[in-house]
Amino acid sequence: MALASTIVLLLLPFFFSSSSSQCHDRDKKALLAFKDSFLSTSLDAKWLESTDCCSWDDHVTCDLTTGRVTSLYFFNDNNSVSLNGSIPAAVGDLSALDTIWFSDLPALVGPIPPQLTKLKKLRSLTISNTGVSGPVPPFLSKLPLLQQLDIGGNSLSGTIPPSLGSLTRLTLIGLYDNQLTGTIPASLYNKLNKSTETTPALFLSGNKLTGRIPSPLGNVNFNTIDLSDNRLTGDASFLLGKSKTNLDTFNLSRNGLEFDFGKVELPKSLRRLDISHNNIYGSIPDRITRLRKLAEFDVSYNKLCGKIPSGGSFPLFDKKYYAHNKCLCGAPLQPCK
Ligand SMILES: *[C@@H]1O[C@H](CO)[C@@H](O)[C@H](O)[C@H]1NC(C)=O
Ligand SMILES: *[C@@H]1O[C@H](CO)[C@@H](O)[C@H](O)[C@H]1NC(C)=O
Ligand SMILES: *[C@@H]1O[C@H](CO)[C@@H](O)[C@H](O)[C@H]1NC(C)=O
Ligand SMILES: *[C@@H]1O[C@H](CO)[C@@H](O)[C@H](O)[C@H]1NC(C)=O
Repeated sequence: MALASTIVLLLLPFFFSSSSSQCHDRDKKALLAFKDSFLSTSLDAKWLESTDCCSWDDHVTCDLTTGRVTSLYFFNDNNSVSLNGSIPAAVGDLSALDTIWFSDLPALVGPIPPQLTKLKKLRSLTISNTGVSGPVPPFLSKLPLLQQLDIGGNSLSGTIPPSLGSLTRLTLIGLYDNQLTGTIPASLYNKLNKSTETTPALFLSGNKLTGRIPSPLGNVNFNTIDLSDNRLTGDASFLLGKSKTNLDTFNLSRNGLEFDFGKVELPKSLRRLDISHNNIYGSIPDRITRLRKLAEFDVSYNKLCGKIPSGGSFPLFDKKYYAHNKCLCGAPLQPCK
């Protein structure tokens, strides 16, 4: 006990001096290199070598006890900062980073740099709505703590690397609105630690993905699945079912999917259901009237047939959400014969 309190007393001055959150030297050096790699930004006025980088405005957050930079935030706040050029290698030297957030920065271009793999503490990587191009790098699988990957709204091309499935904590995968081709890897979420608190979400909409949806995805208890606006074919009914207790948003719109909608089990948690613009056949199951949370619904442009269910708390959705099917009838469409 005596020894322990001596150690605490010896450490006290250290805690006091570090609580002033002086930026770690190595982090400051990396941030200055980061700044210098862009042509000219409003950062020049604020990011000065003579000042504590932990006080450099809202783009930088530090851990107050260690002085290490833990997050880097850039979004186009009314053009006050424009990052022109590519993401500099120096980002990889901010080794305590937990969060990177670059969004709505159209002049941010070039590929995602391999130096990011040095960031072993990174949990959240957002590079969205920028001019960033190149592949979705397979090396992202070398970020063991990664939980959220949002790299949608860029100009990324090529295929989705199967290696992303080796990440045990990656729950959010956002690759929407890019130019991705090929099939969805069957490995996604394969190694996911089942005891993670957040439920998985997959956003792949607005790409050029082809082929069938891999059946192992049917084992994942998703919160959101958005595969809309691709070129996917075949069955998708295995993504639904009673066991999907967390499913909130299910969007398969604008693909070439084909399955019997009359046979699917719709989870009670469902709030948004959009299967429009596919080749889905069968009827709309009566069970749908038991979905109390359903607020958005679209089955238009398919091959559905039969009477539209009514009753329960099933809201009266506008007729456009039933339009262009094979032979749906009943309110809000014309009466059944
Ligand atoms: C950044 O790039 C944009 C678009 O190319 C350009 O309009 C702007 O002048 C550039 N800003 C700087 C500081 O170079
Ligand atoms: C952007 O700046 C202009 C001029 O200062 C201002 O009128 C406008 O409200 C700002 N927009 C946003 C989204 O902050
Ligand atoms: C899964 O996560 C839990 C809670 O975070 C952790 O205790 C456990 O060690 C993890 N298991 C594996 C195999 O990583
Ligand atoms: C589904 O996705 C399509 C295309 O990406 C989009 O237009 C539509 O609004 C989405 N539906 C819902 C219910 O969010």
